[in-house]
Amino acid sequence: MKNNTAWWLRITVAFFLVIILMEVYIDSGDKPAFLTYPTLMFGFMALILLLLIAIAFIVQAIENVLYNTLDEEAKVRYLATKEKKWEWTWGKNMYNKLLGSKPMEAEGEIILDHNYDGIRELDNNLPPWWVYLFYASIVFGVVYLLRFHVFNDYNQKMEYEQEVAAAQLEIEAYKKTAKGLVDANTVVFLTDASDISAGKGIFESNCVACHMADGGGGIGPNLTDQNWILGGGIKNVFHTISEGGRDGKGMIAWKQNLKPVEIAQVASYVLTFQGTTPANPKAAEGDIWVDPNAPVQEAPADTIPAVKIDSAAVTMN
Ligand code: HEC
Repeated sequence: MKNNTAWWLRITVAFFLVIILMEVYIDSGDKPAFLTYPTLMFGFMALILLLLIAIAFIVQAIENVLYNTLDEEAKVRYLATKEKKWEWTWGKNMYNKLLGSKPMEAEGEIILDHNYDGIRELDNNLPPWWVYLFYASIVFGVVYLLRFHVFNDYNQKMEYEQEVAAAQLEIEAYKKTAKGLVDANTVVFLTDASDISAGKGIFESNCVACHMADGGGGIGPNLTDQNWILGGGIKNVFHTISEGGRDGKGMIAWKQNLKPVEIAQVASYVLTFQGTTPANPKAAEGDIWVDPNAPVQEAPADTIPAVKIDSAAVTMN
């Protein structure tokens, strides 16, 4: 019997191995399985512990029985093998080889013949572990030199720029998933039906009193025409809803009551009114708004009538 580790040590190691295995195999989401199913896990682990202890006792008992059947000579031999220390021969040989030092008995072969006040010197070889590392560093150096100084793979500046670009992409992707981060500068017209219908809900519960359900206007201006007092397009409309209209006009800053994403939704919904014909339209107020970023602008500015335009021909901003 070579293994003479203490029985309690074996049990502890086995016990923790079981715990680790369970953590690996039980799907408990982000939290450790122990926190997700505390009573179940506790009961199970207690059972395992009991089993392990029982196995240890049985093994011990069998060993005792077998020992007592041996004759005296065999008992001595058995104890001797049990006392023998276990060794990892391969590991030990490898260690000695990498260390490369001569055994004490052979030092006579490598001792140098000078003698400084009784201090003498051994002519040891360089330790192989050091020599191999040195060779590896030479190989690394050659590869590095060729890659970066001969073939100019990339330099630190390019590496930095690549990382910044990658981070920029990640930020963009994050902003897309985190709709709540929008503001008047980053908002875009939301086309998803779910966003538009959410915007419709917000509009109907907050805005119809002044703008009418069809956007035709009342206390507030007509939202279906191309004329805007405070500027059209998703960014201006978002800004108006978020910050409110001119003082004393009655349009409050909705950022107190609505989250940025809700403002983006209701602003998108407001823009879907463009080109529709409300039942009772209020006369146009403000200027016709032309998107400065629009690719082509057909009619020159002076031919656009200031008021009353054909709403059927209006395209959505
Ligand atoms: C108490 C009445 C009232 C309510 C409620 C109200 N508004 Fe207004 N709204 C106004 C008035 C008045 C103006 C004009 C402001 C100005 O002239 O500065 C306005 C202007 C606007 C404008 C700019 C129109 C333009 O021509 O530039 C938008 C867009 C708008 N409101 C959207 C909304 C939305 C969306 C809601 C609901 C979340 C809402 N409003 C709720 C009264 C209201």
